[in-house]
Amino acid sequence: MDLSELQNAKKVSLGEIAAAVDAAAVEALRVRYVGRNGSIPALIKAMKDVPKEERPAFGKAVQEWKAEFEAALQAKAAAVSSVEGKADFDLTQPGRWRSIGLKHPLTRVIEETAAIFGKLGFTVADGPELETKFNNFTALNTPAHHPSMDRSDTFWFSDDCLLRTQTSPVQIRTMLSSKPPIRVICPGRTYRRDTTDATHSANFHQIEGLYVDEYPQKSVSLADLKSVLAYFAREMMGEGVKVRFRPHFFPFTEPSVEVDFSCHVCKGKGCRVCKQSGWIEVAGAGMVDPRVFRHVGYDPEKVSGYAFGFGVERIAMIKYGIPDIRWLYENDTRFLAQLG
Ligand code: PHE
Repeated sequence: MDLSELQNAKKVSLGEIAAAVDAAAVEALRVRYVGRNGSIPALIKAMKDVPKEERPAFGKAVQEWKAEFEAALQAKAAAVSSVEGKADFDLTQPGRWRSIGLKHPLTRVIEETAAIFGKLGFTVADGPELETKFNNFTALNTPAHHPSMDRSDTFWFSDDCLLRTQTSPVQIRTMLSSKPPIRVICPGRTYRRDTTDATHSANFHQIEGLYVDEYPQKSVSLADLKSVLAYFAREMMGEGVKVRFRPHFFPFTEPSVEVDFSCHVCKGKGCRVCKQSGWIEVAGAGMVDPRVFRHVGYDPEKVSGYAFGFGVERIAMIKYGIPDIRWLYENDTRFLAQLG
């Protein structure tokens, strides 16, 4: 064999490694080329027959072939063994199932509300859960003898510091820190000293809404409030849901109303969900009381506005048909998964 024949044989051998598909083929090549009686050791043995002057170049070429061949063979052995390992899988089997996390129904109601009011130009405002008496009560025109101020109704930390009982203090914070026009919704946790049962919890969530603009140029009216809440009702509960206002009292709004949505389950005919009335109470609302405007340094002759506040749990319970508020806090994934 001369030098060019050797290069040729080398090329053929590397081609055979490339074409090998399994461990048996790899082993056969090893035996044939580098085994005890293989062709490469035979060449080494035959070196003595090579003319003396050609010997160094020929010897070097043989060593290179051996090294390259062994490296390529080793790589191929590794490649076929990993493929053969995988051959244990049945490719027709279904894939492995992994559970995917879901957003909590309360989070979903909050995010949907923010998106709906976002389309109307409202932004989301935030405030702390630990509030001052001024922001939670005084600025909201709540008289000192009001029952909500009582130790038995509110979690007080000191004479001036409490866990907010409503999201309305965020209205105060927003008006103290900015000028009209103001269009915000404020979702967040609220606290009352309620005993927990199927419809009450000491810790729940509200979403407050506030719209204030210049008066009389951009006078904000009760009709505006009703149309905005009707739009919200349709977006949140579905087409055809109606809105009803009932006269009520809140210290911070005048006039004040309680807001009912027509029952989305029976379409107002009367069913178990709406206790046969056809309506479900969802929010408190009204026109911002002039005294509240004075507390935040606004001139009630120059601004007008509406405010509303509703319970997130209440919306989630009627939207998803959840009969017990406690289910929302137990983090039982079997319950949460059903709402996916
Ligand atoms: N803060 C009131 C409540 O918790 C709801 C409300 C908000 C009423 C804004 C009127 C205006 O019951």
